[in-house]
Amino acid sequence: MPERPTLVVEGLHAAVEGKEILRGVDLRVPAGEVHALMGPNGSGKSTLAYTLMGHPKYEVTGGRAGFDGHDLLPLSADERARLGLFLSFQYPTAIPGVTTVNFLRAALKALGKELPARQFLQTLSSEMATLKIDEGFRARYINDGFSGGEKKRMEILQLAVLRPRMAILDETDSGLDIDALRTVAEGVNRVIGEDIGILLITHYSRILEYLRPDAVHVLHHGRVVASGGHELARRIESEGYDPILGAAAGAPA
Ligand SMILES: Nc1ncnc2c1ncn2[C@@H]1O[C@H](COP(=O)(O)OP(=O)(O)OP(=O)(O)O)[C@@H](O)[C@H]1O
Ligand SMILES: [Mg+2]
Repeated sequence: MPERPTLVVEGLHAAVEGKEILRGVDLRVPAGEVHALMGPNGSGKSTLAYTLMGHPKYEVTGGRAGFDGHDLLPLSADERARLGLFLSFQYPTAIPGVTTVNFLRAALKALGKELPARQFLQTLSSEMATLKIDEGFRARYINDGFSGGEKKRMEILQLAVLRPRMAILDETDSGLDIDALRTVAEGVNRVIGEDIGILLITHYSRILEYLRPDAVHVLHHGRVVASGGHELARRIESEGYDPILGAAAGAPA
């Protein structure tokens, strides 16, 4: 059987403004699996997300990253998106002047997945209803004046409409109220299938109760220092990072 499309990260090093943040990240996320990435503030989680998406500010200084057999590193962010990579931002930015509906239509077009107008509007309506996003948001400038939780829901609307093959979700659960968290998790669950992989960056195990990760990884000082199942996330929530990071520091290199 051919291998499922897989995000493969090997010994990845990356620097921002001359400062090395990623110091040898190893990770494999196959389509059809949900992997959670946890780690203390400043450990490099968002840096990894941006580096994988090809943000020009992040300079790869070593290692490799690939998806579905393609080397990602020489590709522009656009080319990576066309391969099926998607990033939901920790801090989504507003684009005043660009409505949600136009943004999504343009994004689909850029990915070569343009839909006939009628079908697009039907898809949009149905995904908005599922995510409990009011129809009025279609005509609003994307993320402009949205509350924190509304922005996060908008990211998942993009995920649902664009249907990537590998989605990196950076703290999609932060700042959501308890009902919104369930709605967003259900939205993510609806797109999960054989053909999509999810790398979910989170600080909390609650969203993982809904998404049932296949693996949980802990990033520390720019390296994956521990991996396990869902119990690892529960353990972090009850004990904090110290016991895990202490054990990792004591382990032979
Ligand atoms: N432009 C920059 N200039 C200098 N340092 C930076 C820059 N961008 C990121 N860093 C540093 O890189 C480190 C990793 O940041 P990153 O945002 O990846 O952490 P994180 O794991 O996502 O943290 P959080 O859980 O708080 O979101 C931090 O120490 C941060 O200050
Ligand atoms: Mg972050």
